[in-house]
Amino acid sequence: MDKHLITGGVSLQGEVRISGAKNSVLPILAGCLLTDQRVIIKNVPHLNDVTTIMKLLGQMGAKLTISEGLTIEVEAGGVDNPNAPYELVRTMRASILVLGPLLAKHGRATVSLPGGCAIGPRPVDFHVQGLAKMGAEITVEGGYIQAQVKGGLKGAHIKFDIVSVTGTENLMMAAALAKGTTIIENAAREPEVQDLANFLNTLGANIQGHGTDTIVIEGVKALSGGTYTVLPDRVETGTYLVAAAMTGGRIVTKSTKGNLLEAVLQKLEEAGADISLGEDWISLDMRGNRPKAVDIQTAPFPGFPTDMQAQFMALNTIAIGKGTLVETVFENRFMHAHELRRMGANIQLNGNTAFIEGNSNLNAAPVMATDLRASASLVLAGLVAKGTTIVDRIYHIDRGYECIEEKLAQLGAIIKRVAA
Ligand code: EPU
Repeated sequence: MDKHLITGGVSLQGEVRISGAKNSVLPILAGCLLTDQRVIIKNVPHLNDVTTIMKLLGQMGAKLTISEGLTIEVEAGGVDNPNAPYELVRTMRASILVLGPLLAKHGRATVSLPGGCAIGPRPVDFHVQGLAKMGAEITVEGGYIQAQVKGGLKGAHIKFDIVSVTGTENLMMAAALAKGTTIIENAAREPEVQDLANFLNTLGANIQGHGTDTIVIEGVKALSGGTYTVLPDRVETGTYLVAAAMTGGRIVTKSTKGNLLEAVLQKLEEAGADISLGEDWISLDMRGNRPKAVDIQTAPFPGFPTDMQAQFMALNTIAIGKGTLVETVFENRFMHAHELRRMGANIQLNGNTAFIEGNSNLNAAPVMATDLRASASLVLAGLVAKGTTIVDRIYHIDRGYECIEEKLAQLGAIIKRVAA
């Protein structure tokens, strides 16, 4: 297993290009299953999760071509095996996103249950209940969801108890080809949900209200082909900005948009950063200063994203003062706290709250990545720690950060990948 070796102490400077959003491209690729015609997706990030969903679509019978640059062409007209096996689903929970499109287009699907994961139990009951309300017969047997629908899905009125990003996406895709109108209440408002809706509308779907908490989908008979460009990754953007803030640096993130991450930018300003925004860039200047600790409570969009909580925990460990992080979206998303403590961080955990007292020094240590964003927080800590930090199990980071060591090295960081 590859490891990252990071020697801390360099203040990050320069420009970095932000990739397409992982959490947009995964549902968009799943959404390609809804049409027989050719779809061209641009600004696709080169990530392990993208490879996984491409494998999944490929073994179902879709034809995928990676053309020059960051473009993928998908033709799902030949899909004849609407199954998602455990071997692929277990490495990526987002594989559940094929369930809605397969049912809507093929009337049947067999999808492995994703199971537990490092950030909490993360069930898929909302996905299953919503599809059942649309007329699907669903059983769970031997770890697999077996779903079928006779005569096609029907529009339904669905209200989520808790906001669910992939739940909203799965039902929105299913509803795109259902008979009649589907209303999703308490829908997720995340930019990636909006991106998926815009993509489906490009193919001829009739979706309205995306970006609000009520989405209305008027089913259509068929979707066409089309070309779509994936939106920038707001979590990747935020991660580089936090890296710059922690190292007292000055960077510009390019090919990204400030309106995707206002709650994050506000916290960076509270931490003492100067932020400027352009049409497609965000700059951060820390003027060599140590950040001030910030208090954060995670929440669905437009609140502070849970996917940036670990990175701000790393920031608070070296900040001036004390900061409190409250994680309200997932039950068990503090695994990184234990690893950060190994580097000398002062973190106390109490249920879903972390109390962090800033410290001017972290010390390098061997640490272990436990999930995607946790790994990012360990890399950030390595950038400011004294000595050389070894981050093990970086396959987690490769799931969601394109070329992280090249991008950080371009900003001046001393980081390399070594094979174990
Ligand atoms: N939940 C249920 N039942 C369900 C679905 C969700 O109880 O059927 C609960 C979850 O356990 C959780 C809450 O609802 O407590 C919200 O989970 P959600 O369904 O929104 O999460 P998700 O759709 O599985 C997506 C992202 C995550 C991101 C969350 C929250 C993708 C592919 N994944 O997950 O991204 O943290 O939304 O914003 O879009 C990451 O990129 O590192 C990542 C984990």
